[in-house]
Amino acid sequence: MHVVAVWSIKGGVGKTTTTVALATLAALQGLRTLVWDLDPQGALSHWFRVTPRGRRAPRKLVSKGTPLAELVRGSDLPNLDILPADLSHRALDTALARRRRPAARLALKLAPLREVYDWVFLDCAPSVTLVSEAVLAAATAVLVPVVPSSLSLRTLEQMRQFAGEAGTAGVPLFPFLSMVDRRRRLHRDNAQALVGAGTFFNAAIPLSSAVEQAAETLTPLPLAAPTSAAAQAFAALWQELQQRLATLTHRPA
Ligand SMILES: Nc1ncnc2c1ncn2[C@@H]1O[C@H](COP(=O)(O)OP(=O)(O)O)[C@@H](O)[C@H]1O
Ligand SMILES: [Mg+2]
Repeated sequence: MHVVAVWSIKGGVGKTTTTVALATLAALQGLRTLVWDLDPQGALSHWFRVTPRGRRAPRKLVSKGTPLAELVRGSDLPNLDILPADLSHRALDTALARRRRPAARLALKLAPLREVYDWVFLDCAPSVTLVSEAVLAAATAVLVPVVPSSLSLRTLEQMRQFAGEAGTAGVPLFPFLSMVDRRRRLHRDNAQALVGAGTFFNAAIPLSSAVEQAAETLTPLPLAAPTSAAAQAFAALWQELQQRLATLTHRPA
């Protein structure tokens, strides 16, 4: 089971869009896929039209007694399940803080699902919290969408620093370019410089009206516009992610 977090400390950089696209591609390929919506704004849950089951879900998500499987909802897509969130999930951080070894908790909760899913995607909130620490400890790898604006590299550096301080420096952060506007010179120049800096994925997601339209109709891009340049870029990202993970030696504790 691969656990891939899609995380940035910035909002509006394409985390949820990316999670939706990659999870859809995995499910279409017949891989058993779970997406955990860790953002209390619940954008991903809205996308798949699912809401959390019952009350006190945040507490149950981190408690010893309730297996995650009990909180999982199906989606309209075969092979794709969702652990949904709503605004009440802003309490997740506090609920986590009350547990013993909070940073290890998400990994512990996910462990029994190892035989059930091939891929787990964590759609993260744009924050640096205890939940983020637990995400880093649970993830096999972290995908970081980076919009090529001037402060992107500093953000990435801050995220690396946080991972180091959280004691999870071993988990690879995989940055990739997101929402690239080739008409803008700043974007072109920064995109080139960022990819030139080495650690970036080759796949880069263009700013695209097809993505906006897919969001409007709540249809994952690979289904809404499979031949669009953006959908093809996500397919390339998915390929690259699988290749990188196949050669990875890091495993979460
Ligand atoms: N490649 C793209 N092209 C055009 N619009 C995009 C693209 N990626 C994301 N968006 C739009 O930008 C907004 C923020 O994207 P989202 O994935 O929700 O970001 P995050 O999860 O990082 O906050 C959404 O309205 C989304 O439809
Ligand atoms: Mg989001």
